Amino acid sequence: MNVLGIESSCDETAAAVVTDGRRILSSVVASQELVHAPYGGVVPELASRRHLEVIVPVVEDALARAGVKLGDLDGIAVTQGPGLVGSLLVGCSLAKALAWVTGLPLVGVNHLEGHIFAAFLTPLPPEYPFLALVVSGGHTALYHAPAPLRYELVGQTRDDAAGEAFDKVAKLLGLGYPGGPAIERTARAGNPAAVAFPLAQMTDQAPDFSFSGIKTAASLLVRRTAPLSAAAVADVSASFQAAVVKMLVRKTVRAAVRRGVRRLVLTGGVAANQALREALAAEAQERGLELHVPTPGLCTDNAAMIAAAGAARLAAGERASLDLNARPDLVLA
Ligand code: KG4
Ligand code: ZN
Repeated sequence: MNVLGIESSCDETAAAVVTDGRRILSSVVASQELVHAPYGGVVPELASRRHLEVIVPVVEDALARAGVKLGDLDGIAVTQGPGLVGSLLVGCSLAKALAWVTGLPLVGVNHLEGHIFAAFLTPLPPEYPFLALVVSGGHTALYHAPAPLRYELVGQTRDDAAGEAFDKVAKLLGLGYPGGPAIERTARAGNPAAVAFPLAQMTDQAPDFSFSGIKTAASLLVRRTAPLSAAAVADVSASFQAAVVKMLVRKTVRAAVRRGVRRLVLTGGVAANQALREALAAEAQERGLELHVPTPGLCTDNAAMIAAAGAARLAAGERASLDLNARPDLVLA
């Protein structure tokens, strides 16, 4: 079964062809990094305009690289939400137009479910049940997946998403956008123990996350000690990254142990971070947990993950009608 995936929820325009929900025939991602970099963050109006300009060539490229024609496809999957409404609409409109022209089955995919399905594009996909930590620019959430296509929200951020915190602190440090990769690069030269950032403790023991305390502490520190030397910027980057990683790893592993779930999935843009990947791997090994982490390129936004999730939904008999609409606040449940 060949599924074309289309993703345009934020600032990447992406298309991919995936066979049997497991094998990637092509995955094309057109990043808008250069469009938004001068503004230090994603400008929604510019994002949707750029999606409009590149989405048709991106889809054509994905088909050409996969060596398939529209007639060789068995279905079309598109990100329906959550995300920026103008951006989502571009992908949804093209997916509907293609479904109408070809008569192919169409399915709408939740972007967060897409991130989780990136784990099924690895050589050793997870078995159910598992706990999935989805850490991206817009979301930080821990889901329990007891069975295929079923999700239960276990915990989430009470303020910023982890990626958002990376982006904001990178901006404070003058490291540019997107912040995550910039902090990771800068942190390599820094000391992770240089600054003791506060880690929020939930009084109710909930497996929720909070990054605003770390972010505010970073902001105060930068203001108090400005201008920072290159060495100080590296130390703050390394210490900030270590604090975020510690919070993510601690809460995730604790939730898994408490629930008796033996398998973990780590995914979403922030899961491209090597320090996070290594720390969770070490902790999982210590606790005897099985960890599944997609390659960094499949952790950040892409359409192969959307095609994979769409394939599972199409195989389960799900079909969207041509009045499928973008849903910016779509929740995963
Ligand atoms: O999943 P994603 O590509 O888009 C959303 O769905 O939001 O995640 C983007 C987020 C951004 O905040 C970016 O700074 C962060 O992921 N990110 C990273 C790294 N690569 C991307 N954060 C930390 N370390 C990285 N290497
Ligand atoms: Zn994402």
